Amino acid sequence: MQQHILEIKNLSKSYGETVALANFSLDLGKGEVLGLLGPNGAGKTTLISILSGTLRDFTGSVTFKGQDLFADRGLKNLIGIVPQEMAFYEDLNATENLLFWGGLYAIPEKELKKRARELLALVELGARAREPVKKFSGGMKRRLNVAIGLIHRPELLLLDEPTVGIDVQAKMSILDIIRNVGREGTSVVFTTHQLSEVEQTCARIAIMDRGTILAQGTLAELIRIVGEKEVVEVSGEFSAAAFSAIIQQFDGNGMEVLSVTDNQAHLAFADPERIPAMMQHLFQRHLPIADLKIKSPNLEAVFLKMTGRSLRD
Ligand SMILES: Nc1ncnc2c1ncn2[C@@H]1O[C@H](COP(=O)(O)OP(=O)(O)O)[C@@H](O)[C@H]1O
Ligand SMILES: [Mg+2]
Repeated sequence: MQQHILEIKNLSKSYGETVALANFSLDLGKGEVLGLLGPNGAGKTTLISILSGTLRDFTGSVTFKGQDLFADRGLKNLIGIVPQEMAFYEDLNATENLLFWGGLYAIPEKELKKRARELLALVELGARAREPVKKFSGGMKRRLNVAIGLIHRPELLLLDEPTVGIDVQAKMSILDIIRNVGREGTSVVFTTHQLSEVEQTCARIAIMDRGTILAQGTLAELIRIVGEKEVVEVSGEFSAAAFSAIIQQFDGNGMEVLSVTDNQAHLAFADPERIPAMMQHLFQRHLPIADLKIKSPNLEAVFLKMTGRSLRD
């Protein structure tokens, strides 16, 4: 059996009345790259903040390499954090930033400089190492942020939405870096609200919402949750209530309503032959439909089934 490097058990955290984590449990294998997918407000940042030791007053336990993560300060030095809010000195250049953050760990100077050079090459900033960081693009800053998280050769890297607010090419580059880090044997958890990112990057995916894990597994295992069904996405100028009222009157022969929001709904059909009848049903009741797509089961459908809402909400 694969050895777990991280075991999170029943983590719960509230901010006053707001429950951010509710009995959140998750295991991570050594060398595994796990994508933690959840919409805004799911509790991703709260989780990463607890694991990084910056947030207290929670219940539950976290075991890292078989020991209580919070009992031994030394253990935290084996974890690298790439926070959602970027942290570095804008007036320093990339190398100086790495040396500064690396200086917080007892790394011999010569080794630290070598590590900084390696990391700048890994995140493709080698040629820009001597420019003040304030001149960097958003994507370059993100890459530097990742390098800083890796400066002390952590065994586990935690990244909180590392691809938010950067262009597509910069995103691809960050995902490449994550894959490379994983290939070198570092365990990785990265959070995102982008389905395509976890599909592309992770051997294992966990879906979370409202502070808890709803499903986890490989992409193929997750898609099996929806089963061999056709997924229909209906879009238009309708309210959630109007759509729900109309679809309730339709006999779909095993049709499943995955999600209904204003302007969009998702339905899964075990019997695809019912799809034309369903369309006719909607048209006859004058539901203003602008677009209708039929898709094979995918991660989006799993997400909709588990959370009842789409990631853009
Ligand atoms: N400092 C805070 N004070 C009060 N509520 C908070 C605070 N931080 C987060 N929350 C709430 O906790 C929930 C989880 O937030 P967060 O962990 O930031 O989710 P995510 O990172 O997945 O968007 C949300 O409902 C959010 O509004
Ligand atoms: Mg967040």
